[in-house]
Amino acid sequence: MAVLGIDIGGTGIKAAPVDTEKGILLAERYRVETPSPSTVAAVTPLIQEILHHFEWHGEVGCGYPGVIKRGTIFTAANVDSTWVGLDASTFFEQVTGCPTYMINDADAAGLAEMHFGAGVDQRGVVLVLTIGTGIGTALFVEGRLVPNLELGHLQIRGKDAEHRASNRVRVDRELTWKKWARRVNEYLMHVENLLWPDLIIIGGGVSKSFGKFAPHLVTRAPIVCAKTYNDAGIIGAAMTSAHPESTGVVRG
Ligand code: BGC
Repeated sequence: MAVLGIDIGGTGIKAAPVDTEKGILLAERYRVETPSPSTVAAVTPLIQEILHHFEWHGEVGCGYPGVIKRGTIFTAANVDSTWVGLDASTFFEQVTGCPTYMINDADAAGLAEMHFGAGVDQRGVVLVLTIGTGIGTALFVEGRLVPNLELGHLQIRGKDAEHRASNRVRVDRELTWKKWARRVNEYLMHVENLLWPDLIIIGGGVSKSFGKFAPHLVTRAPIVCAKTYNDAGIIGAAMTSAHPESTGVVRG
């Protein structure tokens, strides 16, 4: 089944039609910069542009970087606060005419990895981290998603973890991979002491550079790179539309 997956991020908005059975992109992905400020009013025409680009009239799955419950947005750490309180599922459907399923971006990436990537056949407790503009976290227990885990906001040295260890911080502070990895280690130690995962999967923007920082990571659980890399968010968002019942995500 083909579903258009859209991944709204703090830096870019990426999209592609996805074969949700195979977990692959059916066309080259289309990317636009996230506008600043990233208000609902500024992002909406870009969503329309994306649909127009793919000449899309079918179902849409959309990842968003914040807490989502039944299509409604509750937080906006790395995007404009105009998103908070919006029933985005109903809103996008009204604006585009396409049925739209909303999901947290990290949960989307996690779903893709558990179905098609490094999490396939992994039992027990699997933690998927997406490290990009923010830090997204998705938890799977025996393959089942625990939605909206917000461990990027865990306090480390009096700050949100994502304000110390995201990829944006690495770039802004011009940290070497080794120095940045020390911050990630401190964060992962906290997370491991709370959740005791059996496997940690790293996705998001940094996953394409996994080889540069992975040798510096020290964790109790094995740590691996997301196999679907940065496309996980697009693939997982599309899966939400095709399998709403299995993910616990319902529209409206
Ligand atoms: C948000 C999460 C999101 C993560 C990655 C955090 O700031 O609170 O919901 O998954 O960024 O985008």
